[in-house]
This record gives sequence, C-alpha cells and structure tokens, in this order.
Amino acid sequence: MSSSHIEFTSSIHLILMTFALLLQTVFGASPLYHFCSNSRNFTSSDPYESNLRKLLSVLNYKTPPQGFALGSLGKYQYQTHGLALCRGDVNASECKTCVNEASNEIHKRCPYNEGAIIWYDNCLLKYMNKYFFGQIDNENKFYMLNVKNVSNINPQVFNQQTRDLLSRLSKEASGNPKMYAVGEVEIMGDQSKKIKLYGLAQCTRDLSRTNCFKCLEGAIDGLPRCCDGKEGGRVVGGSCNVRYEIYPFVH
Ligand SMILES: *[C@@H]1O[C@H](CO)[C@@H](O)[C@H](O)[C@H]1NC(C)=O
Ligand SMILES: *[C@@H]1O[C@H](CO)[C@@H](O)[C@H](O)[C@H]1NC(C)=O
Ligand SMILES: *[C@@H]1O[C@H](CO)[C@@H](O)[C@H](O)[C@H]1NC(C)=O
Repeated sequence: MSSSHIEFTSSIHLILMTFALLLQTVFGASPLYHFCSNSRNFTSSDPYESNLRKLLSVLNYKTPPQGFALGSLGKYQYQTHGLALCRGDVNASECKTCVNEASNEIHKRCPYNEGAIIWYDNCLLKYMNKYFFGQIDNENKFYMLNVKNVSNINPQVFNQQTRDLLSRLSKEASGNPKMYAVGEVEIMGDQSKKIKLYGLAQCTRDLSRTNCFKCLEGAIDGLPRCCDGKEGGRVVGGSCNVRYEIYPFVH
C-alpha cells in the first residue's frame, strides 16, 4: 500500500485517485480494493477453512442467476457468513466470471483471515466470522475519483446536480427488489453547453429498504470528501455504493 495514488484517510478509509481512462481500462478486471480483517487468523487445519471454501463455492454457484446471494456455513467459532453482489446491469455470465475471480483473488490476498472483502467494477464479495446480514457496513469504505475538475460549469452547481441525481437514484434503488438504480440527467453549463451526468446507486440485498436508503444517503454525504467538483466519483462500501460520471459506464 505504498503506491502514491492511494491515500489513507484512516486505517480503512482511503482515497483512490485515478483518471477516467484508467478506471475503464486497467480496472476492467482487476480489483478496485480489498480489505483483510485482522480480528482473527485461522490455520490450514482449522475447520473454518473448509467451511469458508464451501461457502465460496456456494456463492459462486448461487450468485449469477439473480446477481446476489448470501449464506452461512459451519457452527460455533467455525461459522462463516458471506455474500456476493454483482452490479445490477451485469449479466449472469459476467457475474459468474467476476465472483469466481473475486474468490480466487481474496484467497490469495487474505489467505488466513477470517473476514475479508473485495470489490471489482462488476461485483463485490465479502465474508466474516460474525453475522452481519441486514446491518449497514460502516467500516469498509473507500473513495475513488476522477482527478479532472469539471469545466464549463460552476463546480457548486455541478455538485448539487450530482447530489440531486444520486438522491433520486437512492430512493429508487431502496424501493425496488434489486436495490439498484441508474439514471442520467442533462445539465446546462456555461454558454448553454449541455453536460450529461450519469449515476448509479446500489445496495446489497440483505438490507431492509430503510437501511438501504440510509446507507446510500451516507455514501452521498461522503462525496465532498473525495469528489468536490470532480468529473467522476464513487463512494464504495460493504453494503452500498454510489457512482457518477460524465460518460455512460453501465451497459
Ligand atoms: C493475522 O495475520 C496478519 C498477517 O499475516 C497479521 O498482520 C495479523 O496481526 C494477524 N492477526 C492476528 C489476530 O493474529
Ligand atoms: C453478457 O454481457 C457481455 C458484456 O456485455 C456480453 O459480451 C455477453 O455476450 C453477454 N452474455 C450473455 C449470455 O448475454
Ligand atoms: C482542480 O481544482 C483545484 C481547486 O480549484 C485545484 O487545486 C487543482 O489543481 C485542480 N486540479 C486539476 C487536475 O486541474
């Protein structure tokens, strides 16, 4: 984590600064970020390991058709809980590829950690040794931004339009079964130049509607920390994420 484009704002909060081009190409299939929980480590002979291996294969199998799955396996201190979520527009075969890749990669990056989370453009995978379903994950969060400043528009106006769009999408996402919404809005810049703004809001489907909305509101509130007047940004957490860009980024 010594790379100069990653800035830690606390032990687990960080800011990734990237150009739009990098976001689209380099991050197409590599993880955006991961986090290994250091609460407890297991050994290779630990029953936790085989429970986790089974859980991951269940998630690999169950996630693609609906784009979301969760499960728990094992007993007592050996119990593991996990979920996988694909971005709402991603089809079953892409979802399968992503969850597969995520399980392999997390195994490499956090081999003996009882909890871990990994994010890609197309999916997220998370497991823990404690029951976490339904609760908003306020611990695992990171920010990404396009370092380019918006041009041809007052940044305050742009920020407000971004908030408005994402708030509308948050209401929509928390009200539908997929807990996913995308949308766009055309905003008027200087000299009547039109700027198209694209947004996304999504929650993990273990959350209630209320918690999904709360989580997304929290993510939107995080935008000034990373993305003030920037052409693109994301606040990505373990339970929900928001993203906006001035180019289309979903299918
Ligand atoms: C687990 O392992 C990691 C890396 O190997 C280490 O940094 C961490 O302190 C360990 N945690 C515990 C509770 O032993
Ligand atoms: C799934 O989406 C990818 C990328 O858009 C596309 O290449 C592929 O053909 C799609 N697969 C199916 C089965 O629709
Ligand atoms: C963006 O704007 C800020 C504040 O106005 C400025 O400090 C920064 O250098 C600008 N960044 C780029 C990439 O132009």
